[in-house]
Amino acid sequence: MPALDSQIAIAVIGAGAMGSGIAQVAAQAGHPVFLHDQREGAAEAGRASIAKQLQRRVDQGKMEQPALDALINRIQPVSALAEVASAGLVIEAIVENLDIKRGLLSNLEDLCGDDTILATNTSSISITALGAQMKRPQRLVGMHFFNPAPLMALVEVVLGLATDKTVAETVHATASNWGKKPVYATSTPGFIVNRVARPFYAESLRLVQEQAADPATLDALMREAGNFRMGAFELTDLIGHDVNYAVTNSVFNAYFQDSRFLPSLIQQELVEAGRLGRKNGQGFYSYRDGDERPAP
Ligand code: NAI
Repeated sequence: MPALDSQIAIAVIGAGAMGSGIAQVAAQAGHPVFLHDQREGAAEAGRASIAKQLQRRVDQGKMEQPALDALINRIQPVSALAEVASAGLVIEAIVENLDIKRGLLSNLEDLCGDDTILATNTSSISITALGAQMKRPQRLVGMHFFNPAPLMALVEVVLGLATDKTVAETVHATASNWGKKPVYATSTPGFIVNRVARPFYAESLRLVQEQAADPATLDALMREAGNFRMGAFELTDLIGHDVNYAVTNSVFNAYFQDSRFLPSLIQQELVEAGRLGRKNGQGFYSYRDGDERPAP
């Protein structure tokens, strides 16, 4: 199947870390983009953060100012969900919660045309389960970007039981056109990368719980001696502990509560304390003055 033409509008629902990044990727590829978030001002803030990131590239001489202006002008923050109705592809990147995502998908089905592709950036929730209550589950597909979406090449294109193969092929071809490296995955718990990554997080958290070493030591060890790009603690601080904890719970429950996927009390406590990571200035590390260091 051919990729979606760049004239076709893309809608991104949820203007957090992932939604903003996905909006940037689609706008970079020339699409008009609607960006919607239920939080007032969040879509505008998402667009402003994209402009801020890209301004650095302009300042470094890596991008022309008119190209930045044109890209930003293609992103239209919209306050009412109904305003995304004309999009050919809607990508949801809202909170990792089955019921909330189901509610949104049901609203989108009512608003959008029969041919609109509905894609979800879920990290772990079954595409089959998300589609189960939909009128047109064949139009639903996983389109799972990685963080940060503008930089990470991989996109998992995830087929639920009802997903139409041609819909998945269109999304695969579109992701390729956007400069990504899409791979097909089936709707197994955590798909591919999040499944493989679970033991990395879980064992790292267990080492801290057993007081084997502190997070900063373990991160440095994995980075400097293990050649990992990031250790588990800086990586989960980047992902967001609310998101990572929800994903762990989702994989744990989907896998019949197999103890291999047991969530961590340490991470649960971080979420309870509201220490969500980089996104709000404090996780395993403090980011308040922009300086990465172990949290007090
Ligand atoms: P986030 O917390 O940064 O952003 C979520 C946004 O969705 C918030 O701005 C929130 O106001 C908005 N939202 C929540 N419910 C909504 C609704 N019903 N309608 C409209 N907007 C709504 O979360 P993040 O990290 O961007 O994650 C979003 C999704 O992407 C989740 O499904 C997550 O599992 C997935 N994901 C996250 C990755 C990460 O590293 N953080 C990586 C890949 C996927």
